[in-house]
Amino acid sequence: MPTAVRFSPTRTEIAGVGVEQLARQFGTPTYVYDAAKIVERIHDLRAFDHVRYAQKACSNLAILDLMRRNGVLVDTVSAGEIRRAQAAGYALHGDPPPVVYTADIFDAEALEMVVKHSIHVNCGSPDMIEQLGRAAAGRDITLRLNPGFGHGHSQKTNTGGEHSKHGIWHADLGKCLRLAKEHGLRISGLHMHIGSGTDLEHLSQVCGALEKAAGEIGPQLASISAGGGLPIPYREEQSYVDLDAYFALWDATRQRLAAAFGHPLRLEIEPGRYLVAESGFLIAQICAVKQMGNNTFYLLDAGFNNLARPILYGAYHPMAIVPRGTAAAPLQDVVVGGPLCESGDIFTQEEGGFVRTRSLPKAEVGQYLVIECAGAYGFVMGSNYNAKPLAAEVLVCDGQPHLVRRRQTFEDIIAGEQIPGA
Ligand code: LLP
Repeated sequence: MPTAVRFSPTRTEIAGVGVEQLARQFGTPTYVYDAAKIVERIHDLRAFDHVRYAQKACSNLAILDLMRRNGVLVDTVSAGEIRRAQAAGYALHGDPPPVVYTADIFDAEALEMVVKHSIHVNCGSPDMIEQLGRAAAGRDITLRLNPGFGHGHSQKTNTGGEHSKHGIWHADLGKCLRLAKEHGLRISGLHMHIGSGTDLEHLSQVCGALEKAAGEIGPQLASISAGGGLPIPYREEQSYVDLDAYFALWDATRQRLAAAFGHPLRLEIEPGRYLVAESGFLIAQICAVKQMGNNTFYLLDAGFNNLARPILYGAYHPMAIVPRGTAAAPLQDVVVGGPLCESGDIFTQEEGGFVRTRSLPKAEVGQYLVIECAGAYGFVMGSNYNAKPLAAEVLVCDGQPHLVRRRQTFEDIIAGEQIPGA
């Protein structure tokens, strides 16, 4: 289990393949994922009975296929994600459920799919219990409870407490038990997820809250889920969560419940970021180097249309320059920005939009810059803003790069648009 991380301001390869080779072969901007790193992260969590991947973090079919082949179950939050799981070879129904639909609402398509394919539902609102009960009585369901507190790396990723729209409010549990009974649904699972990128202290508080709620539900419970939220180190001074300690807390909770109920309980964990963040690299090219007063700007061909985390949360990502030649270039403080016609298109910013600098090697137009730890909530939050195509995605397996999504074409971007009368 790694405890400390080191980031270097220069990088020549990703998963054993030269960055320049990758850039030449696939163009830029391109996301590159290291399959071995994902498999390593899956193994870190093997103490849990089941690892369920929150595919919202990175839902390329090749990544889902890798998860499936390594015994990972999958979480879905929309009809589209259910279809992705299916397209990657997941069975939609089974024991334990290979696919779970976790949301606070059903839209018409999602409800139709979960009913038709008997997909297990993790209900995040009393309305979902009623709607599913009317459409498909007699099912097992999971309840996602909001314990009344939460925590995340940003206020925007905190999913607990009364300012969050997520989950069933803890005090409504009694009402939901009655609702489920009325509709012939059996509550076989209990789930809590208090936020993304939180810390061990906050994550640990969930055990107590879940145990209390489980006591109210009683022996019909067959499984509990710790949710996701495991952080990863994005900066030098950050370290990994003590996974052994985290598992021990959850295991003890599970054992106490099993003793009280007189039968074993399954323990799941539902990470997104932890499994894929460190595997992902965004390769971009420096297209302009300019001086604005005291600030030097490196302007890239990748922007917040490719990686939105800095503009959304002031998120920090390690960055590295691909060196030219062998001589080490001196470091300088630079602002790193993208190509978009919007001043917020800056990768080195803090929450609130405050522009900061980063110490990176002196570089010239044409050199490549790699944005690291970008595998989670990177490509999936991309957009076509400024009519920019979505990036290509490449998966490196055993030293071989595979194109797993081609770069969008202009025709892809305008597909579906129509000029009236034309
Ligand atoms: N389970 C549920 C019910 C969730 O809502 C989430 C994340 C996860 C699991 C996975 O959380 P993770 O292990 O990845 O922290 N776009 C934001 C993160 C949003 C997370 C939304 N829900 C970011 O870039 O940080």
